[in-house]
This record gives sequence, C-alpha cells and structure tokens, in this order.
Amino acid sequence: MKSKRGLKGPEDLRARAEENLKSEPDRLGDTSLEDANSLIHELRVHQIELEMQNEELRRVQNDLEISRARYADLYDFAPVGYLTLNKHGQIVDLNLTAARQLGIERGRLLNKHFQYSVFQPDKKEFFSHLNAIFDRRERQIAEVRLSPKGGDQFYARLESIYSEGEDGTGLCRTNMSDVTLRSRAEEALRESQQMLHLVLDTIPARVFWKDLDLNYLGCNRSFALDAGLQSPKEIVGRNDFEIVWGEQAQLYRSDDLEVIKTRRPKLGYEEPQTTPGGDKIWVRTSKVPLFDVKGEIRGVLGTYEDITDHKRADEELRRAHYELERRVEERTSALEKANKELRQIPSRLISVQEEERKRLASELHDSIGQTLAAVKLWVEMALRLRDEGVGSAALDRLEQFVPILQRSIEETRNIYMGLRPPMLDNVGLLATLEWLRNECMKLYPQRHIELETGVAEEEIPENLKVNIFRIAQEALNNIAKHSKAEWVDITLSNDGNGIELVISDDGVGMNLDQILQTSTARSLGLTSMRERAELTGGSFSIESTPGEGTTTRAFWPIEAVDQLQ
Ligand SMILES: Nc1ncnc2c1ncn2[C@@H]1O[C@H](COP(=O)(O)OP(=O)(O)O)[C@@H](O)[C@H]1O
Ligand SMILES: [Mg+2]
Repeated sequence: MKSKRGLKGPEDLRARAEENLKSEPDRLGDTSLEDANSLIHELRVHQIELEMQNEELRRVQNDLEISRARYADLYDFAPVGYLTLNKHGQIVDLNLTAARQLGIERGRLLNKHFQYSVFQPDKKEFFSHLNAIFDRRERQIAEVRLSPKGGDQFYARLESIYSEGEDGTGLCRTNMSDVTLRSRAEEALRESQQMLHLVLDTIPARVFWKDLDLNYLGCNRSFALDAGLQSPKEIVGRNDFEIVWGEQAQLYRSDDLEVIKTRRPKLGYEEPQTTPGGDKIWVRTSKVPLFDVKGEIRGVLGTYEDITDHKRADEELRRAHYELERRVEERTSALEKANKELRQIPSRLISVQEEERKRLASELHDSIGQTLAAVKLWVEMALRLRDEGVGSAALDRLEQFVPILQRSIEETRNIYMGLRPPMLDNVGLLATLEWLRNECMKLYPQRHIELETGVAEEEIPENLKVNIFRIAQEALNNIAKHSKAEWVDITLSNDGNGIELVISDDGVGMNLDQILQTSTARSLGLTSMRERAELTGGSFSIESTPGEGTTTRAFWPIEAVDQLQ
C-alpha cells in the first residue's frame, strides 16, 4: 500500500517537472509557430489530464485514509484483545483492548514480555502454547490466568496462529478474550459434578440409572463393585444380561418396564441377587421413573441395599423364637406331668404303705403267728402232761419246740430283713448284695446269678445304699416272679461319671407300653423302683423285649452322689 516515493500533491509534482525540463535541450528555437501552437495545445491537454489524474489520486488517497482509519478503529476497539508476539513472548504489536485487558498503556507495553502478565502457576502453560505456535505453526488454544496491573485476575483464552512479518520473521498472532465467567461457570459445574459423585459414592446404598432401552447410563461406586466392575464408567451401555446377575436380569427388567410404563415408583421390595463370587444375597430395591427437565420420561433410577444379614438375623430370631416357644411348651408339659405325678405321690405312698402293712400282717400271721400258735398248743399240751404227772414226756415235748422256734427266728429275720436289712449297716452294701444273690440262688438253684461290683463301699453314700439294695431286691423279686430267666447279671459300677446299677435277665421279657398303660397298681414295683432312683437324684429305665429278657438300670450322676455324701 505504501510507495517509496509517495504522493505529495501537485505542487511538488510541478517543481519536479520543471526540474526535469531544465535538463532537457530547448528544442523550441527551431520550431515553427504552428508547431509551437500545437505543442502548447498538447501541453495544456496534458496538463489538464495530469490535473485530473492528480485529483483522482487525491480522492483515492483520501479513501485510503478513511479505510485505514476504519481498520485501525476495528483493530483497536475490537471486543477482544489482539496481540502480536515474537518467539520470546515480547509484544510486537497490540490493540487498545489488549492494553486495557493488561491494565497498562499501549505504548509502554511494546517490546515488553507478555509472560509478565501471566499468573505464575500458569506460566508453563503459556510457554508451551507459544512454543507450539513456533514449532508446529498451527492454530493453538490455551487458557491461562492473567494478572493485570491494578485489576482483578481473570481467565484469558488465547487463540493463536503463526504468521510472518514483512522481513520474514515468525510471529505469533493471538486473540485474547476474557472467559472468566465461562471458566467460573465451568468450575462451578465441575465442582457440583464432583460433589454429586462424592454424594453418590458415599451414600450407603447402591444407585443406578438406565435409559428407556434398559441400558445402563450410570451408577455409583458400590453398585459397580456389586456388578463385578472396577469403576462406574464400565457400566455405561451394558444391560443386565451382561452383568454377573444375568440369572436375575429378566426379573429386574420386568420391574424397570413396569416403572417406565406406569410412570409410578415401585418401592422397597425384596429380591435375590447373584454376587461376583456366585453367592446369592438378598436386596431391598426401589425404582422410580426418571424424567428430564421437560418432564419427559428418560429411563429408570433405582437404589437397593443388601439385606442378607438382616434377613438372616430375622430368620434366626424367628427360629430362636419358635425354639423358645417349643421349649416352653415342652417344659410346661413336663412340669404339668411332674405336678400330676407329685399330686399322686402321697396317695401312692399311702397305698405302698398299706400294701407293706398288708404284707407284714400276712407274713406275721403266716409265720410268727402260726409258730406262736403252734408253740402255745405245744406248751399247753406239755403242761397238761405235767398235770397228768407225765413230767418226762412233757420235757420230751419241749425238745420238739427247738426246730419250730428256730424256723420262727428265721422267718422273723426274713420279715425284718424285708423292712430294713441290718446287714446294710453291719457289713455294707456290697456284702448285702452278695448275700441277696446267694439267697436267690438258694431259692432257685437252677437260675444262675452273676454279681459284679466295680465300686468301693465308701464311694457309695449311706442314704443311697438302702435304695440300691431295694431296687436290686425288687428287680430280683420280679425276675423270680415273672421272668423264668436262667441267667441274671447284676453289676454295680462307678465309671467316674456316676454310680450305675444294672440288672439284666434272659427271661420272657414284657410289653412295657402295655404294662405302663394298664392299672398302675400292677406296676407298683416298677414305680417304686423309679421313685427311689429319682427321689435320690438319679434316673431309672427299663428296657425289655418280649422273649428276649429285661434290663433294669438306675443311674446316679456324680453331682447327685456328691450331694448325698
Ligand atoms: N424281669 C421281668 N421279666 C418279665 N416281666 C416282668 C419283669 N419285671 C416286671 N415284669 C412285669 O411287669 C409287671 C409289673 O411289675 P411290678 O410293678 O413289679 O408289679 P408286680 O411284680 O407286683 O406284678 C409284672 O407284673 C410283670 O408282668
Ligand atoms: Mg414286683
């Protein structure tokens, strides 16, 4: 646009023309008048032509001046800052907007380094932007914070291109706009997104959302872990068939569709879920329709929590409750039974007593009564003989009393043995059992009775001895009366856990149920054995199979034994 000579107006042109004329040879002398006139005419025409050209040039120059001013105006007052930097970052040129943005008068900014205005932490970013321009010569964009002189720091977006100056040196042409508002908005958005993620990842529930095709759009961290994924990003675009809980996909999707179709939430229902490890857990799920800002349905949002432990605890509680009720019932009926038995004990004791008295009465009648009657008869007879004077015959008769009295003594012994065998106090339980066995053997010689005692006399409490003896006695009585057994084993032992008395026979046995169901009077012996055992803290049992014999067992645990000592 600029010319070296420039256009400096008609006066200047005239002066130069005259100068040129002086150096040319004056040819007018040899010219005729006619020629001179024609030459003058031509010169005039030429002069007018030149003046017209001059006028035209002046107009063009004016236009150019206006246009230049307009471009300068456009440049200087553009709404963005324009900067031209060299490769060191020095400002070669800038518009007024850029100067205002940097808070320094334009003239004072020329040749200054632009980086002085860049906020320290962002300087690196600026240099890499600048270097990229000169290295790659391609358009570059960067965002840096600038600290203008006397003004507030702001975010500047630098968009630069490479160009060359008139002398061929590389330049960076940059437009610089204040994007603080946008950056702040972006930052706020970023912060609120971060907060949202933080909230989603912190709440103690799994959260997920799907589009209308039931493909996942997102989820929180705990949901991703449940799905066997590393991070929530991996869920995007998948559907339930492609996740560890494929087995339940159909179930989940039908709920999703229901929520989408009805546009109504489905809340707090329980359903199973397969874990990445292949276990089954229980979850409580809620799903709600997902609407966009315009109120149009976009998909479904769901949450759930793992209630497996809760459910298990519930189940256990229910089971414990049931078990407790069952036990209470069991105890109640046991108590009722015990109560009933207790109520019966006095009457039974009385009947046992009666029974015992009856037996005693008949024993006395049959044995001592008979003997005494016989003795009385014989004494009377002897006295009669003495009165008749047959003294020696009377004395002879007395001799016959001896065996009768002897028998009577034995019978009496049998009777008191039946009440409380004195042997027990004199020689102890073990010897008494031995005696009992021998007595039984004497009565039924064809029956073999074994007695085995694996317990020391002093290990057995005194109070227990009579009970053990009575139980053994009644068991042997029953064997004698009912069993027709050939072999009988009696063992009394103490294995450290307690004292046990076992009497077994190989006799006819019995149908226990039947015996216990029929009249109680018939099983008085069995009942008294049981009561003797239980009243002293022990337990009692009878096992019997018809045709295979009977085993009677009484057991006193060591605690009961200790208590009796
Ligand atoms: N060792 C046994 N072998 C076979 N039957 C027995 C034996 N012990 C008891 N019994 C049966 O049990 C019943 C009840 O016995 P128990 O109560 O002692 O009454 P009792 O001996 O007075 O009949 C007996 O009548 C008998 O039928
Ligand atoms: Mg009996």
